[in-house]
Amino acid sequence: MNRQQFQLILVGLIVVLTVSVHAKDVSYMIENNPKCTQKRLEQTEMAVAKMIGFGKHGRKFPDTYEKISLYCKETTRLVAQTESFTKECIRKDVADLLSVILYSVKSHLIRQYCGKSRTNKRVTSMVRTSPCVNEHLLPNDHCVRQFINSTIPLITLEKDNMKIPYTCCNYVKTMGCFEKMIESQTCLKQHRERIIEIIKGLFNGVTDIMCGEYNEGTDKCEKLPPIPRTNKVAKRNYQTFMFLLADVLSSSKGFKE
Ligand SMILES: *[C@@H]1O[C@H](CO)[C@@H](O)[C@H](O)[C@H]1NC(C)=O
Repeated sequence: MNRQQFQLILVGLIVVLTVSVHAKDVSYMIENNPKCTQKRLEQTEMAVAKMIGFGKHGRKFPDTYEKISLYCKETTRLVAQTESFTKECIRKDVADLLSVILYSVKSHLIRQYCGKSRTNKRVTSMVRTSPCVNEHLLPNDHCVRQFINSTIPLITLEKDNMKIPYTCCNYVKTMGCFEKMIESQTCLKQHRERIIEIIKGLFNGVTDIMCGEYNEGTDKCEKLPPIPRTNKVAKRNYQTFMFLLADVLSSSKGFKE
C-alpha cells in the first residue's frame, strides 16, 4: 500500500463515517470464535504499546547498530501479531481502520530504522538520539496518557460530528505536552527536531488526513467549546491510542451499520 492508496482508504472511511446513518454497534469483536477473546485483545494492545515504545509496556529504541536488526525483527513480529488479531477477530470496517493506523506506525518505524542501508544518515542520527530518548522520553508516558484520558469521553459523546474535531484538538494538545517535556530536558532539547519527527511520525499518518483545519496551525481548536462532561466511564484501560481511536470512530452512529 502506498501513501495515496492509504489516503484513499482513510478518506473513504471518514466519508462512510460522516454520511451514513445506520445504527451504531460498538462491539466489533467477532463473536463465536473461541480464538477471539478479551484477553487476546488486551495482549494485542500490549503488542502495540511495545511497538510504539512509550510507558512501562514500551521498549527502547536501538542505541547501537548491533541492536537495530533485533529491533526491526521485533517490529515485524509485533505488526504480524496485531494484524493477525485484527484480521481474525475484528469486524471488517473497524479492522480496515485499524490497519490504516497500523500501517502508518509500521512504515514510520521501518523508515526510521530498518532501511536497506544501516549506515545512512537517518539511521546514524536515530542511533545517536536513542540514549536520550530512551532515558527521558519513552519511560514518561504522561503525554500519551493525557491524550488517552481526554479522548475516552469522546466514545460516548452525543454529537457524532464533533468526535473527529475533538480528537484532533486533543492531539494538538498532546503535541504541546510533548513540546513542554522536550523543553524540560537539555538532551531532548538538543535533539528537538528529530524527536518531534519521531513523535509526529507515530500519529501523523492518521491525523494529517483526518483532521483538516483542526491542527496546530489554525485557531480552530481554540474556538472549540470544552468537551462536554460525561459520567460514563471507559469500559477498559487503553494502553495506546490505536484501539481507543477505533472505539471513538466506530462509536459514531454513522459508522457502518
Ligand atoms: C489518566 O487517568 C488515570 C486514571 O483515572 C489517572 O490515574 C492518571 O493520572 C491520568 N493521567 C493523566 C496524565 O491525566
